[in-house]
Amino acid sequence: MSKTKITSFFQTYERMSLFTITTNCLLSLLGGFVSLKLIQEYIPIFIQRGHYGNDQCKVSNAPIPEPMGVITAAVYLIIMFIFIPFPFLEWTYTERLFPHDKFLAFLSAIISICTAILLGFADDMLDLRWRHKLLFPTLSSLPVLMVYYVQGSSTTIVVPKIARSIVSFLGFEMTTSLDINLLYYVFMGMVIVFCTNSINIYAGINGLEVGQSLVIASSITLYNVIQLYRLQDPIECWYNWLSIYFLLPFITTSLILYNFNKYPARVFVGDTYCYWAGMTLAVVAILGHFSKTAMLFFIPQAFNFIYSTPQLFHLVPCPRHRLPKFDSKTDTVGMSFAEFKKSELDRFGQWVVTILSTIGLLFKEDFNNDGEKWIRLNNFTVINLVLKFVGPVREGTLTKLLLLLQVFSSILAFIIRFFLARILYDVVL
Ligand code: UD1
Ligand code: MG
Repeated sequence: MSKTKITSFFQTYERMSLFTITTNCLLSLLGGFVSLKLIQEYIPIFIQRGHYGNDQCKVSNAPIPEPMGVITAAVYLIIMFIFIPFPFLEWTYTERLFPHDKFLAFLSAIISICTAILLGFADDMLDLRWRHKLLFPTLSSLPVLMVYYVQGSSTTIVVPKIARSIVSFLGFEMTTSLDINLLYYVFMGMVIVFCTNSINIYAGINGLEVGQSLVIASSITLYNVIQLYRLQDPIECWYNWLSIYFLLPFITTSLILYNFNKYPARVFVGDTYCYWAGMTLAVVAILGHFSKTAMLFFIPQAFNFIYSTPQLFHLVPCPRHRLPKFDSKTDTVGMSFAEFKKSELDRFGQWVVTILSTIGLLFKEDFNNDGEKWIRLNNFTVINLVLKFVGPVREGTLTKLLLLLQVFSSILAFIIRFFLARILYDVVL
């Protein structure tokens, strides 16, 4: 085909988008297929090389290959590398100026995702310390934040009606929007650190890590499609396309991995998967300029993170694993506990435990051991909290229950974003 023919084909924005998204879909399907083949091929190799974990909620202690997420993440990166030229063909075949800012956005997202995969793999191999797990994603968020800055993207937030009413009641004037500048970058950096870690600490039963990431990624893709339909500005639309381009291959490769990781798990995804998933979701949200909306899709993870803080900050002792306790007699999983001497709890810790157990969000039992007062608390995770309410269930049922919760929270997120936001902020967002 001659260059002029190609140029005339790509003349319209719609044709170009259709061509790029079709390529993306085909590459995503290819990514899924290659992941399937590679996982099957690498299962025995992982076992042979000693890369496996033990399923703590099964009778048999059979070795399960881990971290299989590294295979899907590698396939994903290859697919994204192949895809790099396609969103930019439009400019190659027309006379318009090449959009360096968009190209930079694309590459910066890939850099951040690569570093997250590297961090995850290092964690799987070396069991990193918490401070490194927090420091590394903070630094690897810089490429994306720099691009956001260079693009001159907005750091303005819309002030809710109620906040403006309070300020005007106090006798001051306040505009509808507020430029929070540097704070906005701090917020986005925190989004990246939160996303990379929050999936990893909401884990421990078969299928949960991949399942929750799939629900969030699908919800964000749906949100992008809705925005493409609503928005008129071609630049805003392009960034929603960008998010879709990054998420579709993530969804197909993750679906294949889910099939192997769902109950009863044939592979474990490892921290590599959790960090890769979190970073991918965070960068599309930041570059797509919808990081605040994206946080709504992380409601269970945010709740799990806040609920976990007493153990994460060592107010209450935190065992190495907080996953549920397996009962081999009934083949069910129930709450897992942290047991320790009452004297180990400082005043603030006692206060937190009393409040949470009084409002029914914590199982607490006092007992005597060798003449000393001991205390038994459920581990502070949403998984254990759900088990506190429903009692022991089979592991597969628990995963389904938690994924259902994730779906409901996505529905709630859409309601908040499209209906409540209109009431809270008297502007259409
Ligand atoms: C995080 C959690 C930890 C939880 C673990 C489970 C925090 C602070 N850390 O630690 O409480 O126990 O994830 O992933 O909240 N495993 C299973 N079944 C599964 C998945 C994992 O038994 O479906 C076990 C396997 O032994 C596997 C191990 O968990 O080898 C992986 O744990 P790892 O990802 O290294 O734990 P962390 O991410 O450090
Ligand atoms: Mg983990």
